[in-house]
Amino acid sequence: MRTVEFLDTSLRDGEQTPGVNFSIKEKVAIAKQLEKWGISAIEAGFPAASPDSFAAVQAIAKAMTRTAVTGLARSVKADIDACYDALKDAKFPQCHVFIATSPIHREFKLHKSKEEILQAIREHVSYARSKFDVVEFSPEDATRTELDFLLEVVQTAVDAGASYINIPDTVGFTTPEEYGYIFKYLIENVQTNRDIRYSPHCHNDLGMAVANTLSAIKNGAGRVEGTINGIGERAGNAALEEVAVALNIREDYYQVESPIVLKETVNTSEMVSRFSGLPIPKNKAVVGANAFSHESGIHQDGVLKNPLTYEIITPELVGVQSNSLPLGKLSGRHAFVEKLKELQLDFDEAELMVLFAKFKNLADKKHEITDADIRALVAGTTVENVEGFHFSDLKLSSNIDETITATVIMINQEAETVDLFADGQGSVEAIFNAIDKFFNQTVRLDTFSIDAVTEGIDAQAVVHVSVENVDTDTIFNASGIDFDVLKAAAIAYINANIMVQKENEGQLARLS
Ligand code: KIV
Ligand code: ZN
Repeated sequence: MRTVEFLDTSLRDGEQTPGVNFSIKEKVAIAKQLEKWGISAIEAGFPAASPDSFAAVQAIAKAMTRTAVTGLARSVKADIDACYDALKDAKFPQCHVFIATSPIHREFKLHKSKEEILQAIREHVSYARSKFDVVEFSPEDATRTELDFLLEVVQTAVDAGASYINIPDTVGFTTPEEYGYIFKYLIENVQTNRDIRYSPHCHNDLGMAVANTLSAIKNGAGRVEGTINGIGERAGNAALEEVAVALNIREDYYQVESPIVLKETVNTSEMVSRFSGLPIPKNKAVVGANAFSHESGIHQDGVLKNPLTYEIITPELVGVQSNSLPLGKLSGRHAFVEKLKELQLDFDEAELMVLFAKFKNLADKKHEITDADIRALVAGTTVENVEGFHFSDLKLSSNIDETITATVIMINQEAETVDLFADGQGSVEAIFNAIDKFFNQTVRLDTFSIDAVTEGIDAQAVVHVSVENVDTDTIFNASGIDFDVLKAAAIAYINANIMVQKENEGQLARLS
């Protein structure tokens, strides 16, 4: 059986999701988790886009021990140079060069003829090859490019030295049959004596991204591109966890092996959900909370007799531990550390001290600390400490005129305590008004939602907010986790404000 490589672009294409902006610390944590998940390559960002993107690619390059790291570059020498500089410390660096090739992009975006496009490919793929052993080339909007011209484009990129050819369905336009045929046609007709790997890169505008990706694999693709939980521009990208599980469950049909460690799937998906501020829909395939619950009596009866009657994926396959022992008030540091090991979560001594203190605090309030609580605690801690701001505490009082006064205690970057007071018609409004005084920037709250990490009255709360930076119209998602729902709301709103502040300071940039 042949092996299909996996490239994750959650940190580049995934970050193009409206509202999603990972901090560098979060990006490195996700990259490390992806490495545990068995990913072959990580597209860590677009180094030329901003100093922040450059620094993130650099940090991920340093952190990866066995995974290839790639950076995105337009067909512009300065972009390729930025990739080269950012990836100097990578053990397995790669460069991903792209240019649009479809008639609509040629005419309206690039104002270039077919010959000019071919020339740009020749020049920039060979320039990238002078700096990198491994170069990937993407004809953007490939699926709306004339097939005969696409063949010329790919042949040119291969002749210039590309060893990975990515075929982006940039606008989510293709269908499984059509897309599969493009792979078959290119693989049969591109002339080369080198080993070239072709990869699908599918957007989900028509809801076919995973089906299109699987069709490309069936037709010879040797690497897949996608994101965790399918995050990405507009309707998102192909969800890699769905592709990985489909290849496993239907190995009989696809006849390929993947390097993915499936029992790390839930850990990976939950981390990306928390850091992106995008909750996982309950009915989502493979990782949704309902994926393994059976409501109808007939199904329950069948599953009790033999789970395979209605369950093709077992919870254990993707890392849902059904018989794992919960921790409690009496659990000590040893049990806590063992639990982290069981969940494959690694921390250094300093991080462990902070986490254990948080665990003890939670255990004082909550009877049973489940695996979901521990993962939330870990994710919440990382998010909350982004960029050195700390939420410290919160106090509320009701006034005679039925308004609420909030006192939010923050720790600023100089480690000083700052008390902020504000009134509001309700608790959340008062808290957010107080936080607004700390940041002194114009934001508008777009959405606010509360969920529980586990079942039961003593569950930890997770609050998701999305806010708009009124000065730039950019949306930012963020989340906060705490035993107290109002504290979780405060943390979420602070995290969103930190991103707005970074944008105002010019530290964030998007692919234009
Ligand atoms: O969807 C797309 O076309 C892309 C390219 C930059 C590869 O993300
Ligand atoms: Zn894309």
